[in-house]
Amino acid sequence: MYKKKPFFIVFEGVEGCGKSYQSKKLFNKLKKNKIDAILTREPGGTKSSELIRNLILKDYFSKNSKEKFDKYTDTLLYLAARNEHIINKIKPALQKKKVVICDRFIDSTLAYQVYGKKVDINFINNIHKKILGDLKPNLVFVLKVSEKSSRTRLKKRKTKNRYDNFSKSFYAKAQKSFIKIAKDKKNYFILESSSNDNTLQEKIFDIVNKHLNI
Ligand code: TMP
Repeated sequence: MYKKKPFFIVFEGVEGCGKSYQSKKLFNKLKKNKIDAILTREPGGTKSSELIRNLILKDYFSKNSKEKFDKYTDTLLYLAARNEHIINKIKPALQKKKVVICDRFIDSTLAYQVYGKKVDINFINNIHKKILGDLKPNLVFVLKVSEKSSRTRLKKRKTKNRYDNFSKSFYAKAQKSFIKIAKDKKNYFILESSSNDNTLQEKIFDIVNKHLNI
């Protein structure tokens, strides 16, 4: 039998891996089972964090490359958005014993800013220590996708993202980083997400169910 408890689930992976789709599917399934859950995302999730998200994504598409954010400005914006998100949405929901499903979290900063852009990991770890406190995901799903499937999915999108035109090597590096982060961690699940059938959503629900006893 399900007993209400704070539970934090994160989906990670490169663009086009299907994490937004899978997190929505999981959210709907939990709702169907009358589980008190919220679905949120990073960067974003609150009014102020969504404003910061727009700023980050807008900068990427700005034509004047001289005025582009420095990588530390960019990183600080992700972290600022995260701080607002944690204070105003994630922690209050967990305090109310809700299930929080989040599309991206701290591992995206490690994969993109640290491994991808070579931002100093200590800089990020120090800020994370301050803004996370004892907040840790209970489960992290890392969705792994072939480059071909990812590109096919991205081509279908109307709104473009900053990394939607990623180079092959950036994509491969980011995916490798997610897998490296996930390796040997008990609460991380690396799941193949290249095909478009229902098996993945069932697998994810099974894993969540084992923890929540729905
Ligand atoms: P999305 O594709 O999940 O909407 O995320 C927006 C973009 O932000 C995506 O290209 C990955 C990037 N990102 C980072 O570079 N660092 C971070 O810490 C987060 C949360 C996202």
